[in-house]
Amino acid sequence: MSVQWFPGHMHATQKALRERLKTTDVVIELLDARLPGSSANPLLAQLIGDRPTLKVLNKEDLADPARTAQWLAHYNAQPRTRAIALHAHTPGPARTLVAECRRLAPHRGGMVKPLRVLIAGIPNVGKSTLLNTLLGKRAAKAADEPGVTRQEQRVVLADDVYLYDTPGLLWPKIIVPESGDRLAASGAVGRNAFDEEAVALALLRALQADYPALLEARYRLGLAPATIAALPDHELLAAIGRKRGALLPGGRIDPHKAGEAVLADFRAGAIGRITLETPQTFAAWLDAARAAEAQLQAQRQARRAPRNRTGPEVARHHPDADTNP
Ligand code: G4P
Repeated sequence: MSVQWFPGHMHATQKALRERLKTTDVVIELLDARLPGSSANPLLAQLIGDRPTLKVLNKEDLADPARTAQWLAHYNAQPRTRAIALHAHTPGPARTLVAECRRLAPHRGGMVKPLRVLIAGIPNVGKSTLLNTLLGKRAAKAADEPGVTRQEQRVVLADDVYLYDTPGLLWPKIIVPESGDRLAASGAVGRNAFDEEAVALALLRALQADYPALLEARYRLGLAPATIAALPDHELLAAIGRKRGALLPGGRIDPHKAGEAVLADFRAGAIGRITLETPQTFAAWLDAARAAEAQLQAQRQARRAPRNRTGPEVARHHPDADTNP
């Protein structure tokens, strides 16, 4: 895997989250619309349990609208769940958020039983931007590295609707290998945890499969989409590097610099509106990862099994024992 990510241990966050959830009516789970499955933290799902949840697919302006529609339909079909897409810089999201939260917890509201909402999401998903938009401030901070600690805050969304920021940091968790590359490409993983060239190559493979025409439009390689789709990934990266002037002394292509350029373009939306996974592809990765994990467990179990049987009995029937004179 090209991403080596060992999130800081989550005990403190988990404890604080559990505590906060005791007095939470609705959880807003902020996801990256370009990778909704990969940007969800499975630990949060465990902690939320069956509490009503509003999935907010943020950065919708960067995501593929057709795929966003698929994800919204997917989440809206789940029990006690609503889903909306959002662009956190756009003013005025409070009204929609309040309406959706009220729908999810109709028994709450009014001064006696105010609606208490918790917002959670992995770093870089746009939580501070959204909070700042809700507070009507200009984005005070946009960390250039994920994971900058922020103080918990409370935002009054309406007289009887309070929004609480997550206590502690909810790190991304890589549950399937495909998510690692996607999280890194999106900017959710610390810069030192991955190799830019490898992540850019993984990103290019995904774009070749789903968005070859956007690659041609951005980099003007003079190739038909079908040709772009069929190129070996490193050749495509080299062609882009040549176009972007990512050169080493002597004129050779610098694949690292070319990779950085591709990642920067993707993050800024310069290649186009892109979503790197659909509910179906993500479900398939998850199934494959679970099957691989089950196989690994079974192999471990099998290796352990003979040792667990009573020692002398096994020793007597060990094949080596039979061949010994
Ligand atoms: P966090 O608190 O969840 O860690 O994320 P934060 O709000 O700091 O946002 C991370 C980056 O994502 C910021 O960009 C921010 O501007 C951008 N962002 C947040 N929401 C949206 C959105 O809906 N659409 C788009 N296109 N971008 C969004 P940055 O490059 O780190 O900072 P800046 O240069 O934009 O200030």
